[in-house]
Amino acid sequence: MLANKKILLGVTGSISAYKSAYLVRELVKNNCEVKVIMTKAATGFISPVTLSTLSKNPVYQNYIASESTGTWNNHIELALWADVALFAPCSANTLSKLAAGACNNFLTATALSLRCPLFVAPAMDVDMYKHPATQHNLKVLRERGVHIINPDSGELASGLSGEGRLREPDEIVDLLKNFFSQKRTLAGKTFLITAGPTYEALDPVRFLGNRSSGKTGIALADELASRGAQVHLIQGPGNAKARHPEVKTTRVQSAREMLAACQKVYPQCQGAVFAAAVSDYRPAEEHEQKLKKESGTPEVKLIENPDIAGELGALKKQGVIHAGFALETQHGVENARKKLKKKNFDLIVLNSPGKNTGFEHDTNQITVITHNNSKSFELKTKTEAAKDIVDEIQLHFT
Ligand code: C5P
Repeated sequence: MLANKKILLGVTGSISAYKSAYLVRELVKNNCEVKVIMTKAATGFISPVTLSTLSKNPVYQNYIASESTGTWNNHIELALWADVALFAPCSANTLSKLAAGACNNFLTATALSLRCPLFVAPAMDVDMYKHPATQHNLKVLRERGVHIINPDSGELASGLSGEGRLREPDEIVDLLKNFFSQKRTLAGKTFLITAGPTYEALDPVRFLGNRSSGKTGIALADELASRGAQVHLIQGPGNAKARHPEVKTTRVQSAREMLAACQKVYPQCQGAVFAAAVSDYRPAEEHEQKLKKESGTPEVKLIENPDIAGELGALKKQGVIHAGFALETQHGVENARKKLKKKNFDLIVLNSPGKNTGFEHDTNQITVITHNNSKSFELKTKTEAAKDIVDEIQLHFT
């Protein structure tokens, strides 16, 4: 997939620059031609000799290649040479320059001259990553069509823990392989997906929830992203997480938080998939302190939660596709069709609870129902079932 592809790798000043050695090696092993540009700060973390040896090409740092001979590096030629540019790791500093369109070093000047797709893999400490300025810069770049390879979450070089870890080189290479595969049938489309349960707090430690793992929604997010769509995954509590590095995940707890997160991204979406098992009710009162046994058995009054799919369904514009889910124990098709109409879905996926299907299982048996059709599939893994669902969603765009 990557053979003979010309990859322009930008390396900036982050401790994770050591990973770019592995990245170059992986790319070269996949028969790519790799040229590396390093910022001055990057050379403090890894030697240009390492990257030039591994890439089998000289590393670029400045406009002037040799003071004595007066030869210079042509950033425009280099930009036009590339099939794809990949800035990994990309520091908060370079990110801000890219967003602003600054070109005060060789890497950013080359970035402004690119005609090929640009992938940016941010790597920084969690607070720098979460900072509104960085988030704003990422949003600007995303909107400009830059592919953001979202950082991983975990232990960071600072000793802190959280989002900001550079994705592993093999994940980045897989992403490029996928990019060059011919399957990018949803490129240019933006999707919203809800996944997982919601937890409705009763007090600081107790909640009303359900057993949804979020696996179906996550499999859909990964599948849509692998077909080139930009994906906003709004995910409730749970351990499962999206594997595709371009899926933008927002974690929420309650139905109301899920709705608010959906409303933020919905206006830019051409598709919405409501796979979350949203709690229909929440305790009317959320107690500030833990309820004590001594106070007697509590009576919990429940009130209705917002219907996320219903509320966004009422706003649906022509050309936007909505897909929902229905879990029914009886009169499955009939009830699913009612929901299809009520929530203004274009298609609804019916899961019938049974052996090896639904919550907490890795397999599912689905029927996809539209306003004038219905199609049943065999018992499959949730990943395979996600492919079938996305195939069906895709039909609505053509
Ligand atoms: O009405 P019911 O809960 O069965 O509808 C299921 C569909 O509606 C699913 O697609 C689910 O994600 C969505 N839903 C929602 N908000 C709710 C309840 C359900 O988005 N409060």
